[in-house]
Amino acid sequence: MSVVKLTAHNFRNLKSISLDFHPDLNFVIGDNGSGKSSLLEAVFYLGHGKSYRTSNLVNLVNFQESQFTVSIRDGNDRQLGVTRNINNNETQIKIDGKRFSRLSDLVKNVAVQIVTPESFKLFIGGARERRRFVDLGLFHVKHQFSLQWREFSKVLKQRNACLKSNDSHSMLSYWTDIFCQHSLQVAQSRQGYVSELVEELKIWTLLLLPKIDKDITVQYSQGWSQKKDLRELLKSNKDRELSYGYSLFGAHKFDIKFLINKRAIDVKLSRGEQKLFLLALTFAQANLIKKVNRVKPILLIDDIGAELDINSRSLLSDAISELDCQVIITAIEKNVLEPFLCQSKVPVNDISKHENFKMFHVEHGQISAMSE
Ligand SMILES: Nc1ncnc2c1ncn2[C@@H]1O[C@H](COP(=O)(O)OP(=O)(O)O)[C@@H](O)[C@H]1O
Ligand SMILES: [Mg+2]
Repeated sequence: MSVVKLTAHNFRNLKSISLDFHPDLNFVIGDNGSGKSSLLEAVFYLGHGKSYRTSNLVNLVNFQESQFTVSIRDGNDRQLGVTRNINNNETQIKIDGKRFSRLSDLVKNVAVQIVTPESFKLFIGGARERRRFVDLGLFHVKHQFSLQWREFSKVLKQRNACLKSNDSHSMLSYWTDIFCQHSLQVAQSRQGYVSELVEELKIWTLLLLPKIDKDITVQYSQGWSQKKDLRELLKSNKDRELSYGYSLFGAHKFDIKFLINKRAIDVKLSRGEQKLFLLALTFAQANLIKKVNRVKPILLIDDIGAELDINSRSLLSDAISELDCQVIITAIEKNVLEPFLCQSKVPVNDISKHENFKMFHVEHGQISAMSE
């Protein structure tokens, strides 16, 4: 899907906005503190049922208000919206006028990915972020995955409770058995997905990091040693797990590492190059989602000028032309968008440049379309 129209009320500093997006390419320009990230956050919220900047709902509602609403009309003329209220903690989801109560009903309809100046943390932070990244793709590409993951999480909780409480040890072997079955299911889905992602990644690193693309390898851990049987491993680590009080091995311990000449990305690449790598990874994931769902994923890029020089932005512009996504890019200054815009220097027959886009200006939480 793509967002045709977005409306938001009392979402952060966006008191009341309504904008008609371009189906492919959109730019949002504004000073620091004007509301650019808040706008992307509103779109992100519809795709994830949460923010990427805060886990506290109170921070998302305008300081003077008690609830926010974000809604969109998509390319198929469907209307999807969410209202969250901090007084009664109520969530109202509406899809084409019908009410739903679970955020999961909403998020399965909207595939949104974001790249921000902080996204490089994916390479230096803990495994959790990388697991989330991969699982977001899985969620949209392998439709059985969300059920597999939900069931696995329930079993993990039960097994951890057994490990923690001395009374439940008798139940431990029962839950361990089920835990192994579910871990294997999740690991299998992830394995299939990671190999697809790696293939797709090659295409995008070739475009975005042409100098280094040949040296990239991907290493991943399913959450326990590939050479070992999970049941045996848990048996031999029973005392250790009991002393920790939680499961030390299993699908929740999945991690993925990207290496260049066998060295970690954050050691080998500059910040700007890390950002290009992350964009390649995001594009790869978006393209996989696109292929399976046959709908356009929505890609948000916050503060395009941060870390990327003009050559990098030029490569990015060319890569975006190859990508069939709806893209929303924010920038503080219009001049950083130069490589993306159709320049008079570009020959008329050069169709690789973007000729169709929309540009918006944001100021004090008010957004207006700019005429070129
Ligand atoms: N809940 C809120 N209610 C009202 N204003 C908020 C809220 N949360 C953040 N803000 C303010 O919104 C403004 C816009 O923030 P942001 O979207 O991050 O700006 P930027 O354009 O730099 O990305 C900031 O001045 C911030 O202080
Ligand atoms: Mg910002």
